[in-house]
Parts: sequence; structure tokens; C-alpha cells
Amino acid sequence: MAFHIHPLERKWLYAASAAIAIFIGSILLTALFGGIHPPGHMEIIDSARLHLDGEFMEDKLGVRTEPDGSVHVTLVAARYGFFPRQIELPAGTPITFRIASADVLHGMHAPMTNLSTMIVPGYVSTVTTAFPKPGEYPMLCNEFCGMGHDHMWSKMTVVSKETWTAAHPPAGR
Ligand code: CUA
Repeated sequence: MAFHIHPLERKWLYAASAAIAIFIGSILLTALFGGIHPPGHMEIIDSARLHLDGEFMEDKLGVRTEPDGSVHVTLVAARYGFFPRQIELPAGTPITFRIASADVLHGMHAPMTNLSTMIVPGYVSTVTTAFPKPGEYPMLCNEFCGMGHDHMWSKMTVVSKETWTAAHPPAGR
């Protein structure tokens, strides 16, 4: 049985195929050459034992200034919040977040910034950013994680570098 494709339909087939080729091509290009990789470079951790020892124990969580002036933040994401729930950070300073989930898949997103990562149980998510301006920034969960997902948010208060340095001299911890 011979079948006929209308010339107009044929044009659209070409257009749709070209669009698909562009999408797949751009995914491949960014994956191979754009430095796109899973958050935390596949560093693994036992999510069920976070609270027992190591970096993500409760008393080790929070903000730390390194001798070179950079700032590190260690957070646990768990239903339903990021812990500690409120942190203070300096503006205009590189800040590295290390986040682990204590239970299920979460996401961390701070609107109006480029801070956004998935937090996959079993892996450490590492992201580095800087906040240009002081202000209040919410930290929201953007992966559905249960009935309390909508209420899973914590707060970052970004203060000026001067205010920060006065309160946290780089030499001391
Ligand atoms: Cu955590 Cu949604």
C-alpha cells in the first residue's frame, strides 16, 4: 500500500526532527564540555548515620570561616527543614555549602540567587556561590519530599562584609 505525505506535513517533520536534534545535541555538549556533573562530584555518605559521627553531626553543623577568609556552611536537609534553620553569612564572599539529606530526596533553592541543588540521600551536595547584596534569603525545598514539603524552608541572613568581619575575625573560630 503506497502512502503519501503531504508536502506541508513533510516540512513539519523536518522541523520537528531538527528541534529534537538541537535539544539532544545541546544536552550532550553541555554534559561533555560544560563541566556539568552531579552535585558533590559523587561523594557518598551514609544518610542513615549522619547524626552519629563526622561532618554532619548536629554540633558540627553551621557556618565556619576558613583561614583564607572563605566561608563554609554544613547543612542537613531533613523533613521538613534545613538545619540549622537560620544562618548568617557575609555578602561578597565565596561561600561553599555542603549539604546532606537525612532521609529522602530534597532540593535547595534560594530565589533571586544562583543557589540551587538537589540533595540526594547517600550523596553530599557541594555548591559554591557568593551573595552580592545583604538581605534576607529564604532557602526553599524544591523537590517534593512529603506532606510537609510546602513548609520546608529555612532562612539565610546576609550581612555586609564589614559587619561579618567584625563579628567573626578570620583568625579565630
Ligand atoms: Cu524537602 Cu520538599
